Amino acid sequence: MTSNNTSGSSTPGRVRPRRLRRTPVIRSMVRETVVHAEHLVMPHFLLHHDRGEEAISSMPGISRLGHEDFLRQVADDKKLGIRAVLLFGLPAEEHKDEGGSGAMLPEDPVLRAVSALRREYADEVVIFTDVCLCAYTDHGHCGYLENGAVANDPTLVRLAEVAVAHARAGAHFVAPSDMMDGRVAAIRDALDDDGLSDVGILSYAVKYASSYYGPFREAADSAPGHGDRKGYQMDPSNVREALKEAALDEAEGADMLMVKPALAYLDVIRAVRHNTQLPLAAYNVSGEYSLVKAAAERGWLDEAKVVHENLQSIRRAGADLVITYHAREALQRDWL
Ligand code: PBG
Ligand code: ZN
Repeated sequence: MTSNNTSGSSTPGRVRPRRLRRTPVIRSMVRETVVHAEHLVMPHFLLHHDRGEEAISSMPGISRLGHEDFLRQVADDKKLGIRAVLLFGLPAEEHKDEGGSGAMLPEDPVLRAVSALRREYADEVVIFTDVCLCAYTDHGHCGYLENGAVANDPTLVRLAEVAVAHARAGAHFVAPSDMMDGRVAAIRDALDDDGLSDVGILSYAVKYASSYYGPFREAADSAPGHGDRKGYQMDPSNVREALKEAALDEAEGADMLMVKPALAYLDVIRAVRHNTQLPLAAYNVSGEYSLVKAAAERGWLDEAKVVHENLQSIRRAGADLVITYHAREALQRDWL
């Protein structure tokens, strides 16, 4: 027996964890996890118009923005301390085709946004671009179709072209979200061949076939026209497979890895954290955001406290970066 009586007997023991919780200053001294502005990445949905703001009904507080409105938003967000953005493009309907070639057009909203941000902010705002075809294909799948299924290797060629276009425009990191095998290597080689070896890759290495992407697909008009994404995104039952995906992408040259979604997959974040030395991002996805907003609108939850707790939990699980639609409001309203 040790001399410390910590058992549930009637005499309290010498060890009293509550001493460390007694005052706010003591609590802050021994706090293990913090969430600050530099940990957050703000996603943006870019319209192909110069101006415009379209509310997304399933994501209160988030809008699709025209080019000028987007630039104004980034300027405002920067004053709050947001230094990183993740960009998604919404091409004109007539630019969607079978192979997603619209992602390469000079008028593509992502390419325009990246160039403008680089001109305005140089390296003061870190630019991540989502590299995928689903918003650019007329069928809504993340790659080329052959006999109704997404064909892996032909898709790699287009993904690498898109990544190079984003990088030439000035992206700091390209973030492939398609879940094709071998895409990190294909993109790394294409970037290097183009003299873009400084541009990094944030790989959506561990991306599940999740129902939490529903609001995003409304926002980005990227739902598959037929079928689902289970043939390329991961089965939510699996965690060993997450370690395999993470190791592959690391070996292929990824600079940072991502787990997505975040809250329903905290165990996966923790497992990946313990199996890589790379920085790890977690994507607090659209459905996870919408759940909180809906409950808060009804007065069922204290939004400020729940958002803080959710973001803390994602960081505590092991994420360095959190991609979250809550970023702006959390900083604006001092929730962290
Ligand atoms: C595109 C992509 C998706 C998300 C990020 N990139 C949707 C999907 O895979 O269907 C989801 C983001 C979110 O839900 O917030 N491949
Ligand atoms: Zn996609």
